[in-house]
Amino acid sequence: MTAVVIDGKAFAAGVRARVAAHVARLREEHGVQPGLAVVLVGQDPASEVYVRNKGVQTLEAGMASYEHKLAADTSEVDLLALIGQLNADRAVHGILVQLPLPGHLNADLIINSIDPAKDVDGFHISNVGLLGTGQKAMVPCTPLGCLMMLRAHHGSLAGMSAVVVGRSNIVGKPMAQLLLGDSCTVTIAHSRTRDLAAVCRGADILVAAVGRAEMITGDMVKPGATVIDVGINRVARDGKARLVGDVDFASASKVAGAITPVPGGVGPMTIACLLANTLTACCRAHG
Ligand code: GUN
Repeated sequence: MTAVVIDGKAFAAGVRARVAAHVARLREEHGVQPGLAVVLVGQDPASEVYVRNKGVQTLEAGMASYEHKLAADTSEVDLLALIGQLNADRAVHGILVQLPLPGHLNADLIINSIDPAKDVDGFHISNVGLLGTGQKAMVPCTPLGCLMMLRAHHGSLAGMSAVVVGRSNIVGKPMAQLLLGDSCTVTIAHSRTRDLAAVCRGADILVAAVGRAEMITGDMVKPGATVIDVGINRVARDGKARLVGDVDFASASKVAGAITPVPGGVGPMTIACLLANTLTACCRAHG
């Protein structure tokens, strides 16, 4: 079997176009412009690239973009004061604090100081609780993007067996909650799981979010399964720097029914969903 390759880039372009059309209507008919504030502390090169891309795509969608770049030694008090200002600013509908934060800052404290209604990352403990109890929440962008692609590919996911490899708060746990919400039978596997290959082979839907290059190989995939690769790993191949996922695409795509590539799969969906969440936050703020 050769898998259908799910084109996340095209899918994300469609989401962004729908968001932009809605934003244009909001501006014309109600004079309201959604605004997203992104806070970056320090100079992590990967984070700087993400933040730049977020800013560009926010503007392209017709939203206002507010970037706050702070020195690596910014104090917790100063960062909390900035978030307090953004919480109170009526032009700001979404607030994102880029992670990881420098070690001297308590990430949980910082994230939980964001107004949950503006928490477009869905990381605030209130949003985590709302999602976990099936209530209306801000949903983390990467798992939301994965769910959208799965729904588009399959229609209903009800009754399917889903295995999420990875238990991070950003991807693994919310992904599992979303799949459960769509009536999948969900397993969360991780580094201590026994016979990971056998667990993965039980999956109709296999989501890899472990951060280890190409660790999910074709022999771990059930024939015909849908494989969603969340990993973005930089590796050296033939003397060149390359991006690869957590899935060994060459072997897995021979067994799977459908698979997301890296790059061009889940990645573009994350920012598209951030824009969608910012629009949602703006619509809720304006009733
Ligand atoms: N760092 C890596 N991914 C993310 C994300 O989705 N949100 C934030 N805030 N930081 C990140």
